[in-house]
Amino acid sequence: MRTQVGIIGAGPAGLLLSRLLHLQGIDTVVLENRSRDYVEARIRAGILEQHSVDTLTAAGVGDRLQREGLEHRGIHLQYPGTRATLDFPELCGRTVWVYGQTEVTKDLIRTQLDGGPPLLFEVSDVRPEDVDSDSPRIRFTDADGTEQVLECDAIAGTDGFHGASRPVVQAAGAGRVWERTYPYAWLGILADAAPATDELIYAWHPEGFALYSMRSPSVSRLYLQVDPGEEIGNWSDDRIWDNLERRFALEGWSVNTGTITEKSVLPMRSFVSAPMRRGRLFLAGDAAHIVPPTGAKGLNLAFADVTLLAQALVRLLQEKQSDLVDSYSDRALARVWRCTHFSWFMTSMLHRSGDEFDAELQLSQLRRIVESEPAARELAENYTGLPLEI
Ligand code: APR
Ligand code: PHB
Repeated sequence: MRTQVGIIGAGPAGLLLSRLLHLQGIDTVVLENRSRDYVEARIRAGILEQHSVDTLTAAGVGDRLQREGLEHRGIHLQYPGTRATLDFPELCGRTVWVYGQTEVTKDLIRTQLDGGPPLLFEVSDVRPEDVDSDSPRIRFTDADGTEQVLECDAIAGTDGFHGASRPVVQAAGAGRVWERTYPYAWLGILADAAPATDELIYAWHPEGFALYSMRSPSVSRLYLQVDPGEEIGNWSDDRIWDNLERRFALEGWSVNTGTITEKSVLPMRSFVSAPMRRGRLFLAGDAAHIVPPTGAKGLNLAFADVTLLAQALVRLLQEKQSDLVDSYSDRALARVWRCTHFSWFMTSMLHRSGDEFDAELQLSQLRRIVESEPAARELAENYTGLPLEI
């Protein structure tokens, strides 16, 4: 098999990259080791920065997003006795959209399978080879068990944290990784309950953080700070609702309960690996970096990476200019560290750990954001998404 860009992984990063390159006349083949049903069933986050919405819409995969997505003008920041609103258009002229990553992935897959480039599910044993040459290839076994070789001009490693690509980049020996694991996790639920809030609520509480998000006017998505390694079996639906009610407590207001349709515990960590390139193998998305979900950056950072990578690959393959691919890793990492800092900042400010002195520092930081316009603007600018090139 032969193509111009072999893409490993049909998560949002790989699928958007394939779409952006397709629209520029660049051939791609996407290799995914899971089934379509599995990929489309994964529950993930749901906040899109303005530039992500613009990129998806410009790429012709924004119709359902525009129809079913919810544009949000801000967030509520809460601590005992206070629930303050950050008005994003006022603070930085931008908004965000609530639209599940699962829905974005479904839209991208539907578009790809409707006359788009090849998307092979249920492949296995994927191995990028000869990435230091100008004609790398991907060896893999297809869904029928036949060994295949995909000849390429370039390979995109968008195969997530546990994928096959990053180890190949790191094996060049010039790499570095930075990691921070947080001493807490999130218990997340999906519930058939109309959200009792107009904007997302990020709540600091002595018993731990809580986040009130949503998926639609009839589906709520809520999160509770729990201990890392917490067993979901220890959490009855009643216990979950009790804890949410307490952490969001505010005079004359209460959480809307309903049937919990999904619950899981999510680990919290920050991870950055550099470089994001080795020869003709380029990493993007979770394959190169992980952020804790508190800053709503994971999906948006993956989209920012592939927007830069698509531009660089078009320039290399159509204009034979390597300047953008040569600077891709540094340019992408500049934004990765900015988003890694913001996600760490939000996580450290809002999660209970440490002693009472730490608690007072967190509350002082929260009050500062609520009372100071420059501090609120700094949060709003980062949350809604900084320009693509930092
Ligand atoms: N071969 C083929 N496919 C693979 C392999 C492999 N060896 N390993 C993993 N994959 C597939 C996974 O099954 C998954 O579908 O690669 C895809 C990677 O997708 P994601 O993990 O969603 O990563 P990415 O596309 O970078 O999206 C990042 O996902 O985890 C969230 O918060 C994160 O929102 C961010 C987004
Ligand atoms: C979500 O809706 O799942 C969500 C929203 C904001 C976050 C994290 C997750 O910061």
